[in-house]
Amino acid sequence: VILKENLKIVSQEQIAPRIFEMKMTGEMVSDMNVPGQFLNMKVPDASKVLRRPISIAEIDKENNTCSIIYRVEGGGTAILSTLQAGDEVDVMGPQGNGFDISMVKAGDHVLVIGGGIGVPPLYQLGKELKELGAEITFLFGYANWDVIIYEKLFQGLGQVFISTDDGSYGVHGHVGHLLDALEFEPTAVFSCGAPGMLKAVNERFKEHPHAYISLESRMACGMGACYACVVPKIENPETSNLRVCEDGPVFKTGSVVL
Ligand code: FAD
Ligand code: FES
Repeated sequence: VILKENLKIVSQEQIAPRIFEMKMTGEMVSDMNVPGQFLNMKVPDASKVLRRPISIAEIDKENNTCSIIYRVEGGGTAILSTLQAGDEVDVMGPQGNGFDISMVKAGDHVLVIGGGIGVPPLYQLGKELKELGAEITFLFGYANWDVIIYEKLFQGLGQVFISTDDGSYGVHGHVGHLLDALEFEPTAVFSCGAPGMLKAVNERFKEHPHAYISLESRMACGMGACYACVVPKIENPETSNLRVCEDGPVFKTGSVVL
């Protein structure tokens, strides 16, 4: 069941250039039980008909809040960024399958790989992996130092390695360099980020039994009805597709054509 609700904004804060963190509260929070799902946000503007999909970055059951972290890309996210505490926002969700962490056990060493604005959903994922007792290595790639988000918070969950495209922080280059230097065999791999990065992860962990990539695609309905968001399946790519909004956004490595 996909719910629709006017969530109340608890806070909205700019945390980096063009990047905002919005915390919301509402009954829907009690249905948010899997990391890596997304919310389909209605932009309060008559000209913006399509909802904007944004990943859930954190779920706080105790305070009945959830948060999203998003970058202002175009007109829709620009309008969302003007909303303030006390305002309401029309949200459908929680949508999508999310990351399957059912196989993770205490003591497992898991790998979490993120890039840029793909990092936010990995925060809730990291919190849940830590609660399960897993040891976590995070590899994050960013454009430059000033768009790095939640570094201290991630350091509280595990070991964090960062690369930047311009060398302004951490290792100079893309996250693939961090991946090349990996010295352990992860029991599970979870990743979200730009297509190039996901391709590299997909390739490297093609045969891994528990490796997952979270994809982005342009969506229209965002609830499985229109097939605007499909990716070809690895078997019979000409004739069979999977919907990113409903069958994903998380897929096993080696299951879709990137
Ligand atoms: P415009 O370019 O004006 O948008 C025009 C249309 O294109 C809109 O319908 C918009 O939804 C669509 N669109 C534009 N860019 C994208 C994109 N990259 N992916 C999908 N649709 C797009 N961004 C974040 O900053 N943080 C997140 O946590 C996040 N999670 C996402 C999770 C999923 C499953 C998907 C599919 C996308 C996610 N995005 C996230 C990307 C976000 O949806 C777009 O940046 C946003 O829709 C842009 O809207 P706009 O009106 O500002 O831009
Ligand atoms: Fe309509 Fe995915 S956006 S099926």
